[in-house]
Amino acid sequence: MELPFSESYKIKMIEPLKRSTREQREAWMKEAKYNLFKLKSDKVFIDLLTDSGTGAMSDRQWAAIMTGDESYAGARSFHELKDTVKRIMGFDYFLPTHQGRAAENVLFSVMVKEGDIVPGNSHFDTTKGHIEFRKATAVDCTIDEAFDTTLNHPFKGNLDLEKLEKVYKGYPKEKISCCIVTVTCNSSGGQPVSIQNMKDVYALSKKYGIPVMYDSARFAENAYFIKLREEAYKDWTIKEIVAEMYKYADYATMSSKKDGLVNMGGFIGFKDEETYRKACTFNIMFEGFVTYGGMAGRDMAALAVGLDEATEFDYLETRIKQVEYLGEKLREYGVPIQYPIGGHAIFVDANKILPNVPKEQFRAQTLGVELYLEGGIRGVEIGAILADRDPVTRENRYPKLELLRLAIPRRVYTNNHMDYIAAALKNVYDRRDQIKAGLEITWEAPIMRHFTVELKKA
Ligand code: F0G
Repeated sequence: MELPFSESYKIKMIEPLKRSTREQREAWMKEAKYNLFKLKSDKVFIDLLTDSGTGAMSDRQWAAIMTGDESYAGARSFHELKDTVKRIMGFDYFLPTHQGRAAENVLFSVMVKEGDIVPGNSHFDTTKGHIEFRKATAVDCTIDEAFDTTLNHPFKGNLDLEKLEKVYKGYPKEKISCCIVTVTCNSSGGQPVSIQNMKDVYALSKKYGIPVMYDSARFAENAYFIKLREEAYKDWTIKEIVAEMYKYADYATMSSKKDGLVNMGGFIGFKDEETYRKACTFNIMFEGFVTYGGMAGRDMAALAVGLDEATEFDYLETRIKQVEYLGEKLREYGVPIQYPIGGHAIFVDANKILPNVPKEQFRAQTLGVELYLEGGIRGVEIGAILADRDPVTRENRYPKLELLRLAIPRRVYTNNHMDYIAAALKNVYDRRDQIKAGLEITWEAPIMRHFTVELKKA
């Protein structure tokens, strides 16, 4: 008999989960104004809100915590981390920050000016937020294939070179801050970018004198997909692939809360000294001195270990196979999700499940609320609420896709939990025709409204 796949780690510490009744959940959801971000975590049974900072650290990482160096300047833990980033990604210059958006804030303070254009592949919401906050414009150049959830394209995170060149031709070089390549592309479904596309984007950008920046939150998962799907790299190690990926980037921002395998942290990588020097001033102002940037020494030590673990094939295989396991169950149950299955999450197609709910009543958010009521599972809306209003017209933006993201924390849940999630979603799917009304906004913030929005039943 062929031996089945099994996890590449065992569990040394556990945390109890609390069950609840549907009646309790109905009351809690109403109290939380139908915003899943407002629920207390002990009211959630399986938390798939995000894979960011929610992973489990390894015994080696916890050991590193105990030996972290808390010196204000020049800490050994800083140098361990800086050397690890150089070894894995190849950046000569490095600044720690407290998380990914802080890295964006520091780097964009140097690079993005009012009136600038910033092309990329479906910029993440904080990235877009930092661009729009500076009165610059993010232009989405993702390939069209990414927007068809049923299409099986191996690299739906890729940038469309024609769209990108149109931007490069349409504006003077001084107006284009940089091109952002998000690996993997969260907003288009955790979809990877191929090395070929990275090479092409870099070559085109160099031709027009534009720097390239990688939003690196899930760079290791991206490398895993390259190994599996891009023929030329099938025999390369993950670390070799990562090194190759970063040959085609001038800068990187990192949210270490994902593929850094830590609960908090971020950094910026630079190839040129000049930008690094300018960024140091902003880092000191916003984050902390250049050798800690908002991170404790022990956390930098754990991150150095985490980056090494996240770029090991066995870890990535366990991780991505679990996401795939859930996706395959849902496929079996006929629940429409985005294909191919992405790296960190399942993206459920709410437009297909709830076409009877008017799009103005937020289909993906409605589906998220239903899934919580059904099984105490918390996902997150990637749809019109997240897309926010147009900064100029203030009209609601309705993206092509209304998705409910079920993000899987790293090394946290078992496949029994995946079975439970799939069954709960199947139950919602089976009664989809009875769900005809969605939600209405009663209060929203002027920017990044999804975190704090308040809703009521329509
Ligand atoms: N870039 C990407 C692609 C991200 O997914 C995130 C965060 C960030 C940047 C910002 O990093 O949270 O450390 O400040 N994504 C989380 C998520 C919040 O749930 O997908 P951060």
